[in-house]
Amino acid sequence: MIETLSLQERLHGLLKGRVLTEESLASHTYFRIGGPAEVMVYPADLEDVKAALKVAQDEAIPVLILGSGSNMLVLDGGVRGLVMNLSETFLGLEVSGEQIRCGAGVRTSRLLALSAMRSLTGLEGLTGVPGTIGGAIKGNAGTSLGAIIDHLDWVRLVDRLGEERCLARKELSAGYRTCRLPMGSVIVEACFTLRRAEAAEIRETISTLLVRRNLTQPVEVRSAGCIFKNPPGDFAGRLVEHAGLKGLRRGGAQISEKHGNFIVNLGGATAAEVFWLIERARAEVMAKTGVALELEIQIVGSPSAG
Ligand code: EPU
Repeated sequence: MIETLSLQERLHGLLKGRVLTEESLASHTYFRIGGPAEVMVYPADLEDVKAALKVAQDEAIPVLILGSGSNMLVLDGGVRGLVMNLSETFLGLEVSGEQIRCGAGVRTSRLLALSAMRSLTGLEGLTGVPGTIGGAIKGNAGTSLGAIIDHLDWVRLVDRLGEERCLARKELSAGYRTCRLPMGSVIVEACFTLRRAEAAEIRETISTLLVRRNLTQPVEVRSAGCIFKNPPGDFAGRLVEHAGLKGLRRGGAQISEKHGNFIVNLGGATAAEVFWLIERARAEVMAKTGVALELEIQIVGSPSAG
């Protein structure tokens, strides 16, 4: 308790941005599930990010970087240490010819809308993918139409020692829903090179994809998007359906009846209930097909308080 207070007080004195304690993470995730963050900071700028990382490094405090919480399950006991909420920081967007420089806190939908408006094509694979640009790069988010890192030139980040670094695309060793970033680093900015195309065509592609997504995914209910990565040559949703698990319910959580790779929060679901369904889906798919499903979402925190 004394440690918690001193961390909060120290950060409060150092940072320009807000410092909160025991903030419920449920309201910061798409799932609307999760326990509290011991300390949550909203860095006001780059200097705040560096200062917070330095304190965490000096005091050996774990740091969780939070964007919009769209691809995350926070367990019911919450997250100890420091949660750095970047949803209100690094919101700049600048177009220059076929390049767009974009702050890490910008929403994927905003970047996509701007590129369409400026007749720049390439990012349509992000259609319907929620989240911030920083989070999207970390998970190399995308769809069958392409992933975000395909069009990335470079990212600027702050490493866990508080040093700024710039990495070119090839240094990220991007793969399907993964990339390699220095451990504990915070992405602050990214630069994309796109191609010119007819704005009407870009808009048409986006709206076709959105219609398809609305038909096939449970967009009207709280979820964390796809739970599992697609295994090579197959689809996690198809495998979960094949295992007969669509519609399976545990408390307030349910494997979506619409899409087998989604778990939805019907209201008041706990992380434990979601986790139970995840484990059940993995076990049944393994037993029926021999395929080991890998998580696409990030699971963070402790199952219970204390
Ligand atoms: N399918 C089933 N049963 C289901 C769900 C899907 O048989 O319950 C079959 C479909 O019929 C289709 C195939 O599986 O033949 C693929 O389904 P879908 O087109 O819905 O795409 P997906 O591979 O399940 C991927 C991304 C989604 C993205 C859609 C856009 C992954 C893990 N998922 O889903 O991304 O929105 O393409 O089409 O790559 C996310 O990352 O959070 C996410 C939702």
